[in-house]
Amino acid sequence: MSEPTFPRSPRIDAFDKVRGAALYAADQSRPGMLHAALAVSTINRGEVLSIDTRAARGVAGVRLVLTHADMGDYKPPGHVLAGGFGFQSMQPMLSNRIAYRGQPIALVVGETLEAALEAASLVRAKYERQPFQVTLEGAPAKDIVAQQGSPLPQEMFADKVAGDADAAFAGAAHRIDAHYLHPPQHQNPIELVSTVAEWRRGTLVIHEGTQNSGAIRHGLARQLGLDPARIEVISPQCGGGFGMKNSLQMQTLLAAVAARRLGQPVKLVVPRSQLFHDASFRPASRHHIRLGASADGKILAAIHEADQQTSRHDLFPGSYAEMTARLYGIPNFRGRERLVRLDTQTPGYMRAPFEQPASFAFESAIDELAQLLGLDPLALRLRNETRTDVLTGKPLSSRFLADCLREGARRFGWDKRNAQPGSMKAKDGAAIGWGVACGAYKVATSPAIARIAATRDGRILFTVAGHEMGQGMRSAIASMLVRRLRVAPQALVIQIGDTRGAPQHLTAGSWGTASVVPAAQEAAEALLAALAELAPGHDPALTPAQVLALAGRDRLEAEVRRKAPGQPDAVYGRLQGGMPAPAGPAYPEFVSMSYAAHFVEVNVEPVTRRIRVARVVSVVDCGRVVSPLTADSQVRGGVVWGIGAALREISEVDPRYGGFLNADLAEYVVPVHADIGSIEVAFIDQPDPLLNAAGVKGLGEVAMVGVAAAIANAVHHATGKRIRHLPIRIEDVL
Ligand code: MOS
Repeated sequence: MSEPTFPRSPRIDAFDKVRGAALYAADQSRPGMLHAALAVSTINRGEVLSIDTRAARGVAGVRLVLTHADMGDYKPPGHVLAGGFGFQSMQPMLSNRIAYRGQPIALVVGETLEAALEAASLVRAKYERQPFQVTLEGAPAKDIVAQQGSPLPQEMFADKVAGDADAAFAGAAHRIDAHYLHPPQHQNPIELVSTVAEWRRGTLVIHEGTQNSGAIRHGLARQLGLDPARIEVISPQCGGGFGMKNSLQMQTLLAAVAARRLGQPVKLVVPRSQLFHDASFRPASRHHIRLGASADGKILAAIHEADQQTSRHDLFPGSYAEMTARLYGIPNFRGRERLVRLDTQTPGYMRAPFEQPASFAFESAIDELAQLLGLDPLALRLRNETRTDVLTGKPLSSRFLADCLREGARRFGWDKRNAQPGSMKAKDGAAIGWGVACGAYKVATSPAIARIAATRDGRILFTVAGHEMGQGMRSAIASMLVRRLRVAPQALVIQIGDTRGAPQHLTAGSWGTASVVPAAQEAAEALLAALAELAPGHDPALTPAQVLALAGRDRLEAEVRRKAPGQPDAVYGRLQGGMPAPAGPAYPEFVSMSYAAHFVEVNVEPVTRRIRVARVVSVVDCGRVVSPLTADSQVRGGVVWGIGAALREISEVDPRYGGFLNADLAEYVVPVHADIGSIEVAFIDQPDPLLNAAGVKGLGEVAMVGVAAAIANAVHHATGKRIRHLPIRIEDVL
């Protein structure tokens, strides 16, 4: 198989972004556009008995105040995993029921944002309060697989079983048995969730930064009782998604209804404090890990049991053991997940949704096992390599985790590590800790219908299902089209995230590049074949525009359809209907995972005990690297986020009143520039031979998987303290 090489090109949209020409949803402006703001519930669970909106209506410039009493008759969106389109099944303001603190109770629309905000602050409600539970402690965990009639896909809850882990654990000479706790976290993309809704002669046009314009179109069609053909969703740029924007949000219907009622465009930007309560987040989870091993470091058994929070109204499935079962070749494995219903909005996907918490727990336990056995944690991992998938017995399409570990160790200088905790000191007296941990992430692929056109004036128009959320999807597509068609990047017009182009599918789960780049490759080849047919025997050095000129044509089009190995044709129907339709990691003939190894140095200051991450070396196996610049940037972002997850981030639950206490970027602490030391990124860059012709796996999420564990392991090496919860704070290492 030929190995394509990709040019190291800058981001195709960099110039537009730095001069502000790349428009985000909230940048949209219209003559007569009105501004909306939400009033939200101050209780955590119960019912609205009455709402007093008189003061709000009296504010100058206020045009509309909507509550559940006068919203009208609209349908809930349904949960995206249960045949619906929303991050949660429930639509606020369709009834007087309050399921969580911060839930919208009124929408105020004004001629100015100031009028809307002032009026929203004057909305007063009387409530009937009901008891609630917002923390995992003391709440019952339910084994959801045992429940009949669950609307969710049952396989997501099935236990992950290989061999007999309980027997192998009981008989193992050396055992680890430990509990780990991961807090709830919020992803906080810089672009707030925002909608501009506009009706144009019976067609609803939505501008919204999203990872899933298809779900917004089809979900709104369901909610409003409209033909999806009368809804356009336009999302050329999304200012960070990280899973928060992967489905229909609660505010989109409200903006659409207000715009229709008033006959004018309405803009609704949800402020960050409200996003903490009205968009999805990473749920709290607790993990019980048991490992059994022989003295020489062969892991014979692993048991991973996880409990995760969900909402009272939805079952958001956790899938933690899917990754931990596949990280090493552990012959006896048992994993199970249970859900704990709490009174919050429904949690959801946040970058490496299950793999980040799971790897923190599991890779900490692996480090504990290395210490117990007196083995180097690197050697222990290499001792448990595999070529086959433990859960299915199928071969892995490619696996270079051992190469990631060896290359990372070489770059980091791991052989100079003194294994004794607390033995390494910096010149200023800080304790130095060196830790290692690994990550894996499923390689998924989504179906795509791609259309391409060459025009006589030299442009190449390309459209496919995909969303640009800063990860560089347009640049990845461009690098393929430029190479195959031999055109300049400036000639490309790439239309993604836009329902006026190709049918739009969810962009998530690290399947973006592996889904759109092969589609771009096949579309380019289809176009070249069509050009060859149009002007047989033409000089291969001619550009598409020159061939069109030769043939006397203005435009030539081609369409390709692509699905993952083993997917039925019905997936195109799901794609066209705005439903999730990815495949993987288990394909008919193989299982496909991406891998990462992270090496971390922490410095723990002698007096303040402040923990600083001095340097990180991350080596990633994501198959062929398509776009080196954006790939490098993905990994840096993942490492920075891993540092945040390990040392900073927690959504503080308020047990008294419900909701989250630190609902802004001042108090939800994320790493700043001064917190980040050196980050060295390297790739194995070996094409996956089975997954697609481009040899691409996935990168976006695996980049951060294992970073937090590597930091926790480094903290242990520096201090001798094993911290089994996140974030790790000064008080944990005093
Ligand atoms: Mo991503 S957390 O799969 O949107």
